[in-house]
Amino acid sequence: MMIDINRLKYLTKEFGDAFYLLDSTQFKQNYAELKKAFTRIYPNFNIAYSYKTNYIPKLCRIVDELGGYAEVVSDMELEIALRIGVAPKKIIWNGPYKNALKVEELLLSGGTVNLDSAYEIELIRSIVERYPDRNLNVGIRCNFDISDGVLSRFGFDIESDDFKKVLEFVKNTANVRLIGLQCHFATRRLETWRSRAEGMLNLIDTLGIVPEHIDLGGGLFGKMADSLKVQFDSYVPTYDEYAKVVAPLFAERFKKVNNPPLLLIEPGSALVGDCMQFASRVINIKSVCGKKIATLLGSIYNINPTLNTKNPPITVFAMGNEQEEYSDLDFGGFTCIESDYLYHHYNGKLAVGDLVVFGNVGSYSVVLKPPFILPNFPIIDVCGDKIEVIKRAESFDDLFQTYSF
Ligand SMILES: Cc1ncc(COP(=O)(O)O)c(C=O)c1O
Repeated sequence: MMIDINRLKYLTKEFGDAFYLLDSTQFKQNYAELKKAFTRIYPNFNIAYSYKTNYIPKLCRIVDELGGYAEVVSDMELEIALRIGVAPKKIIWNGPYKNALKVEELLLSGGTVNLDSAYEIELIRSIVERYPDRNLNVGIRCNFDISDGVLSRFGFDIESDDFKKVLEFVKNTANVRLIGLQCHFATRRLETWRSRAEGMLNLIDTLGIVPEHIDLGGGLFGKMADSLKVQFDSYVPTYDEYAKVVAPLFAERFKKVNNPPLLLIEPGSALVGDCMQFASRVINIKSVCGKKIATLLGSIYNINPTLNTKNPPITVFAMGNEQEEYSDLDFGGFTCIESDYLYHHYNGKLAVGDLVVFGNVGSYSVVLKPPFILPNFPIIDVCGDKIEVIKRAESFDDLFQTYSF
């Protein structure tokens, strides 16, 4: 998205001193590129967009229109998909907690529920017993070592008795169909994608089952500026590089199979990270013991509530006041948390009233922003000359209507 000073002046007049900028065109491009990277090697591929990463309804609708699946992890997210009009058969429900009533509704309407642990077996059994003439699509979340140094708490340990139990349950229950096997690992490194793909292919060979879907979960890096890439301690692969590691293993394994399984991945950050920016006004510049600090109408909780310590890409837009040259200046937030800094060690020109635009704030930002100190700012989609309000600014009443005064 090209954003210039005139557009920013217009946006601040309309929407105030802080707002998110969405780039839904970039989101569509990312989706198409990622899909192409895999399908050209293994055509039976699709994307299940991870709603939790950024559930702006417009983005979820784009995924649906482009033929993707909805990957949800709660009844709240399920409701987003249903309100958008996603067909239940395109909805996959993961997550360690599931609302029993909503699980039943989704299963009865043809959606897929991926079981995360043994307690869910009884949940499904009770539905089966009450609806003996309905077919229910379930998947199993699989957990195995991919040598990434992380002990994942998601899914069934494939060496465990619980895993045997869930397999027995789906095999021996006539109207439960094992539609998919799924895994998810948060580590984004390229080699972990080889390990998870090999792990799942070995598993289906050991089990002698080829389910309709083999789902490798999320956890891919997305596109980002070089200034952000260098702050990660591992190489940041491209979509093509991920595809070249995973898709040939599937193409080879299923080359003689008439109905090869659908390979699914569940990207969130990789699709949406670079599709949002956050613009915020410089309110004040102060000096404390010689350290220069600019206070913004914005907070780390607006752009990075997971509080990782990386500096996002920034651009400073001069808005008319005379700028001075600064070095090692930190941008602080509007909250009263000492550690609320959006950016450290800025070197360059700055004045009170300038707008600072932070890039790559699309993942785990708006969905995680707490209602702390101030309600959240509006989200504006800028598509060419068109401006669309995606979410108006939150008001006092939006946040306090659930309290009794
Ligand atoms: C089951 C599942 N799928 C997909 C994702 C999306 O991950 P990311 O945004 O890192 O791609 C997550 C994130 O936690 C997840 O838990």
